[in-house]
Amino acid sequence: MNTAMSEAEAQRLDAADPGHRHLFHVPPAEGGRYPEVAYLAGNSLGLQPRATHDELLADLAAWRRLGVEGHLEAKRPWLPYHELLTAPAARLVGALPAETVVMNSLTVNLHLLMVSFYRPAGERTRIVIEDSAFPSDSYAVRSQARFHGLDPDATVVRLKPRAGEDTLRTSDVCDYLAAEGDRVALVLLGGVNYLTGELMDIPAITAAGRAAGAVVGWDLAHAVGNVPLALHDWDVDFAAWCSYKYLNSGPGALAGVFVHERHLGDPDVPRFEGWWSTEAATRFEMTPVSRPPATVEAWQISNPPIFAMGPVRTSLEVFDSVGMPALRERSVRLTGYLERLLDEVTAERPLTVVTPRDPERRGCQLSVRIGVGSANELTKRLRHEHGVIADAREPDIVRFAPVPLYSTYHDCWRVADALAATVETR
Ligand SMILES: Cc1ncc(COP(=O)(O)O)c(C=O)c1O
Repeated sequence: MNTAMSEAEAQRLDAADPGHRHLFHVPPAEGGRYPEVAYLAGNSLGLQPRATHDELLADLAAWRRLGVEGHLEAKRPWLPYHELLTAPAARLVGALPAETVVMNSLTVNLHLLMVSFYRPAGERTRIVIEDSAFPSDSYAVRSQARFHGLDPDATVVRLKPRAGEDTLRTSDVCDYLAAEGDRVALVLLGGVNYLTGELMDIPAITAAGRAAGAVVGWDLAHAVGNVPLALHDWDVDFAAWCSYKYLNSGPGALAGVFVHERHLGDPDVPRFEGWWSTEAATRFEMTPVSRPPATVEAWQISNPPIFAMGPVRTSLEVFDSVGMPALRERSVRLTGYLERLLDEVTAERPLTVVTPRDPERRGCQLSVRIGVGSANELTKRLRHEHGVIADAREPDIVRFAPVPLYSTYHDCWRVADALAATVETR
């Protein structure tokens, strides 16, 4: 790679297309020749927005000053606090506010949603996932099968890419659903695959699943805040996502849930309930029977953790102010740039980008398969020798996610430069 030229080019691109890095804390580098890391791991844990610290302290101060009265008298009263998150979360996933709520963590939410929407009956018992589903999704659906007295090996269908291919074809998923759909109770796929970075055709697969009579849910951990979503219009039955990746809300942050309007208020949909499942106005009537609202808030159970909601609220404000369309445009430019650099580096090295080349079939992440050595070892060297933070999925995938909010062209250049210096040519 002609490093001097391309570093100058990266800096020129940054000047022309600066993003919103100033809103975030970028960690200092422990290695390499730049003061800050090139942070390409926002697909794993997003960086901390600068606003989070003060906002969190303000919530703590309200508790210190007001004690229990903070429920009603805090600047942002705690009783209806979760409602502050609803509209911005709904905008991000293309939902109605009544269809969206922020609560719990991702896998807990997937279970609560499967209580409602995985209802095996007769021959219709199967759960369809992708073979490269995130392990916790595999564990979750297998445990749901067992919960219903079914054999998980026979119940969970894992769709694989064709031999010699790395990613699933939409047409193969749809063909499976057309052929076997009368045995499928639930389709639960990742919107963007965690390993390959493939963006699934959510509307097409949702339509195929629903046409087959199945319920279609999505794990949007790697999609939310990464790609534009229109869950309501796409007729998705339900979805869940975490907020610690592209939503920058901190490790283990509160997660989000979508349930399509057509299921809201339906008395035939079973749900687990608690205090927060009942209409807000009835919460202090202390009656033994709940009156759930005809919104997704009926899926809430416990009163929400205020200090965990603050960081999500702060982060969603950033998304609201920048807007997903603008972010997506920058994302396509940034990832396209990284792809061009990687094309140069991988041509002469045992490295292969496995993420689809079509920007319509991916978000910002590019996954690189390494042909020699271990993914863990490579990411360690990238970090310690070059200050480049990526993450490894053993045995052979290293993931790089230029996040459009805060990553720079220079970060992408540093990835390519570091790989070129670390991985020997063939
Ligand atoms: C696609 C996907 N699903 C589920 C999880 C796990 O979710 P949690 O442990 O927050 O419930 C992750 C975590 O990275 C993920 O990437």
